[in-house]
Amino acid sequence: MTLDCQHQAPLADLNTLRLPATAARLLRVDSPATLAAALPDIAGEKRRFVLGGGSNLVLCGDFDGLVLHVALPGRAFAGEDAEAFYVSAGAGENWHDFVQWTLAQGRPGLENLSLIPGTVGAAPIQNIGAYGLEVGERLAWLDAVDLDSGETRRFDAATCGFGYRDSVFKREGWHLCGRFLIVSVTFRLAKAWTPLTRYADVAAELDAAGVARPTPADVAAAVIAVRRRKLPDPAALPNAGSFFQNPTVSAAEAARLQAAHPALPTYAQADGRVKLAAGWLIEQAGWKGRNLGPVGMFEKQALVLVNRGGARGADVRALAQAVQADVLARFGVRLEAEPIYLGAA
Ligand code: EPU
Repeated sequence: MTLDCQHQAPLADLNTLRLPATAARLLRVDSPATLAAALPDIAGEKRRFVLGGGSNLVLCGDFDGLVLHVALPGRAFAGEDAEAFYVSAGAGENWHDFVQWTLAQGRPGLENLSLIPGTVGAAPIQNIGAYGLEVGERLAWLDAVDLDSGETRRFDAATCGFGYRDSVFKREGWHLCGRFLIVSVTFRLAKAWTPLTRYADVAAELDAAGVARPTPADVAAAVIAVRRRKLPDPAALPNAGSFFQNPTVSAAEAARLQAAHPALPTYAQADGRVKLAAGWLIEQAGWKGRNLGPVGMFEKQALVLVNRGGARGADVRALAQAVQADVLARFGVRLEAEPIYLGAA
């Protein structure tokens, strides 16, 4: 291939768990022109991976293919209608910085998603969510380049097929992850803003600060304070956020579990199923603050797997499997990993 890319590129600085691995080839996609020029070569590449902030990724070994590191910049107003403002960002923009920028511009609506690591382009892939809001609820449309045909395709929120930590991009797994490269995302931010403060932690934080009628900045500050207290900063202690999804079970299964474990936190879903708190299950299984080799489950939030120094992908996989086995044995509930595993086992 003639592509002007880096060979045997180290990836440790490009994933927030800081796992060591190399990519046979790495192309930094930092402008539409770079992407356009590379498209013919990319189309011929069978093994490729689109990388954003690397905050939802477990590198299990070297990747024998092409990594496209999305660094497309840009923030802009995309218009308005009677009810909403539309704001766009390049896929490579840092998510938190973009959210703070929208607030500074007087365009609230994303504040509950403050401080989530990663990029704007990665946000819709797993439909990031926190404190009562998922990004899919604010997405107007996104533009993605089909890496096989070179065509740009627009996905509206319905076409993205959002679910809990899920979208069409994630569901179709490898195929869509490797086929579409999200270049920009446009958000619909309602002009009639109301604070989303139902989540107990956020409400308590606002209460403690004596804020009765929160502004968007107050909500952002509360969310940031809660996250800082409970979740490790990847720059200080490498991690990939929640390592497992909160499992959803049938109402009958939830009733069985609650009878045996009255303290189990449960969240009724619109479809009658019940979501369980994976962090609670992991803590009860004895894994909160416990290590296996160089990795462990975080002492303040058992759902977060941390690299205490020098870990490799196999260490992460071993801990994840041990936690899954213990939770299954103790509660009969299967935990699904949230991050994508990439590379040799
Ligand atoms: N809990 C425990 N022990 C723990 C952790 C949690 O008992 O070690 C209990 C808590 O006391 C609470 C319940 O579990 O009753 C839920 O905990 P928390 O409010 O901390 O939220 P979570 O369900 O663990 C989810 C998301 C987070 C998001 C928070 C806030 C998932 C997989 N995780 O965590 O998202 O920030 O809610 O909305 O849905 C992420 O996906 O990377 C992430 C950090």
